[in-house]
Amino acid sequence: MALVSAKEMLTKAKAGKYAVGQFNINNLEWTKAILLTAQELNSPVILGVSEGAGKYMCGYKTVVGMVNGMLEELKITVPVALHLDHGSYDGALACIAAGFSSVMFDGSHYPIAENLEKTKELVGICDSKGISIEAEVGSIGGEEDGVVGAGECADPGECKQIADLGVTMLAAGIGNIHGKYPDNWAGLSFETLDAIQQKTGDMPLVLHGGTGIPEDMIKKAISLGVAKINVNTECQWAFQEATRKYIEEGKDKAGKGFDPRKLLAPGTEAIKATVKTKMELFGSVGKA
Ligand code: 13P
Repeated sequence: MALVSAKEMLTKAKAGKYAVGQFNINNLEWTKAILLTAQELNSPVILGVSEGAGKYMCGYKTVVGMVNGMLEELKITVPVALHLDHGSYDGALACIAAGFSSVMFDGSHYPIAENLEKTKELVGICDSKGISIEAEVGSIGGEEDGVVGAGECADPGECKQIADLGVTMLAAGIGNIHGKYPDNWAGLSFETLDAIQQKTGDMPLVLHGGTGIPEDMIKKAISLGVAKINVNTECQWAFQEATRKYIEEGKDKAGKGFDPRKLLAPGTEAIKATVKTKMELFGSVGKA
């Protein structure tokens, strides 16, 4: 199946009270692990690409070529969206030109008037091409690939202004943070999320910083309108731990254990296991 916009899968998720996972990709192993797991579990999925990861993978055209190739060669039939994560205005345009099926424009660091203006322009372009677009209000805390956010709670009135521009989905800061949550983290602000959902109605809401959020909070967030949850760091930790174990056990020194296809296999399997756990928690299994 060819790449699809995230609109239909997220509209269904919001109505069905589950969430679709966005898993960030870094290379071939990441992409293959996520696609195979989604297919095995019959789950829709969103592949996230940050601008930094796009550069690392030799540019957006390379990413589009790799993902499209895998969809065909691995016979993937579940809905897959290829999505720019925390994009700049120019980054969004570049991804649209390269063949992404979905983009995020993160204008949360601009004054709201400028965020509105730039988001509106991109909504027009995405609409004309059938591409889904995510906007952001109220920055997500922490640092991801050089994108640093203060972690404020979004203003529900501003969320409504952005939603009314016709974006497909909306990321709103509700105390969530990219990467590891500090021990003194106050948790998600469900009061803010509830107020945002009341103002934005059917709009699928996006929860960034999915790594390390306790299960009960994830479930409550879904019940309050979150239909897309982003996970990045947790797959990186899983890959790192499995790779470390392989080397610490000396397996890279035994026989042909140095072969990259063997060396990277435990990490790839660990990503699959992490993605499976998240899809089960988010409720997207069997929803393709
Ligand atoms: P984590 O790295 O905390 O899982 O966040 C991922 C994310 O929000 C990508 O935009």
